[in-house]
Amino acid sequence: MPARDSRDVLERIDNEKKAYLEELKDYIRIPSISTDPEYKSEVRRAAEFLRGKMQAAGLTAELIDTAGHPLVYGEWKGAPGSPTVLFYGHYDVQPVDPVELWRHPPFEPTEEGDKLVARGATDDKGQSFAHLKGVAAMLAARGKLPVNVKFLVEGEEEAGGEAIDRYVREDGGKRLACDCVVISDSSLYGPGQPALVYGLKGLAYMELKVTGPNRDLHSGTFGGGVTNPLNALCQIVARLRDAETGKVLVPGFYDDVRPIEAWERAEFARLPFDEEAYRRDLGVAEVFGEQGYTTRERVWARPTCDVNGIFGGYMAKGAKTVLPSWGGAKVSMRLVPDQKPDVIARLFTDYVQQIKPKGVAVEVTFLHGADPVLVEAKGPIVDAAMDAMEEIWGGRPVRIREGGSIPIVSTFAQVLKVPVLLLGFGLNDDGLHSPNEKFNISHFYNGIRSVARLLDRLSDVERS
Ligand code: BES
Ligand code: MN
Ligand code: MN
Repeated sequence: MPARDSRDVLERIDNEKKAYLEELKDYIRIPSISTDPEYKSEVRRAAEFLRGKMQAAGLTAELIDTAGHPLVYGEWKGAPGSPTVLFYGHYDVQPVDPVELWRHPPFEPTEEGDKLVARGATDDKGQSFAHLKGVAAMLAARGKLPVNVKFLVEGEEEAGGEAIDRYVREDGGKRLACDCVVISDSSLYGPGQPALVYGLKGLAYMELKVTGPNRDLHSGTFGGGVTNPLNALCQIVARLRDAETGKVLVPGFYDDVRPIEAWERAEFARLPFDEEAYRRDLGVAEVFGEQGYTTRERVWARPTCDVNGIFGGYMAKGAKTVLPSWGGAKVSMRLVPDQKPDVIARLFTDYVQQIKPKGVAVEVTFLHGADPVLVEAKGPIVDAAMDAMEEIWGGRPVRIREGGSIPIVSTFAQVLKVPVLLLGFGLNDDGLHSPNEKFNISHFYNGIRSVARLLDRLSDVERS
């Protein structure tokens, strides 16, 4: 069916894009680091900023207070009988450390050619702000939209997303009723090659604290007398994975893992992937992971277990002879369907307690989790989204899975029972969570255009 013409809106976007970019910079300047309690008021300020931008665009918008950071909700319901699109994004960002590696202050967005460098530029302020600007441009150009839109933007995705989960479950699809969810918090497969992500990993994030003697000791006068908690910690960590096969050694870890399907293996293998370039870019001698799987398969569709940080003892300059009283580690396990974070957390805890060396106590804490998810990626709505992406980016989207997690996605799928479209506008070299995170400015603009095109295309889809 011929989709309606979007040229009026695309033209508007072209005329206004510089102003949109300045607004995005103002948004980015608010350091909304959700995991650090010191930034609580800044996180709220970002939410208020976003509410203001929604209202300025012509939506009704409000903050929803939660036990954690507020949700920002906005809607425009002037197209009764037409489909409703729910846009999801997150306005919180990751911490900036190590700050000395940034080329500019992380919250001072800086243009380097086509790149906008700042924390949150792509993850997820830039990408989700493109949703709002696409809607705003259309409302400005036409005074109306061809579909109804709702926005639900959270402020603690990077910290586990508990508040939104509770909100969506309690809502049960009443206020949030929609025909599809649109999320832009991932990447294209490559330049000019969009992707529709149909699978995300889950997460079980654990903290270990190993305690030995009741105080730091002289490592000569006491060394040999007691178990060193840091040695013990390393022994535990060494037994989490098999060094040869890369398998996770926690008993039962793989019990609920859904095998990669034959069509997925075939499709992943067909995608262009230069493993040598990947290796070189990361500066490692070789790629490594679970035996029996390709790099793509391991990253997208096999569960993993990694130490994220290890600490304790003497960490300053020079040599201090000390036998530390305690040591700790943060360990995350990325999960795939049908692993459950709480089950995995329990298996992990039991295993660690069972293998812990003599003479130390180990405390294991489950910090947060996320369910893995596979979403249905077929049907007329998905086709409309694929068409819109193809028109704007110049290539037909490929269907891929991703190794990252967006905790609310599985809840959306379960509760709202509609297609969840993960349409990323970023690039794999955007450096999410890293120093000098960036978003290509041209991708910000194309993201806005994609949204305009998507809304026009979705208005042609018959409601089921
Ligand atoms: N946007 C990412 C997730 C992502 C990255 C999806 C790349 C697809 C491709 C998201 O903001 C993120 O970082 N999520 C966290 C969630 C965790 C803290 C529960 C993650 O994956 O570490
Ligand atoms: Mn994100
Ligand atoms: Mn992130």
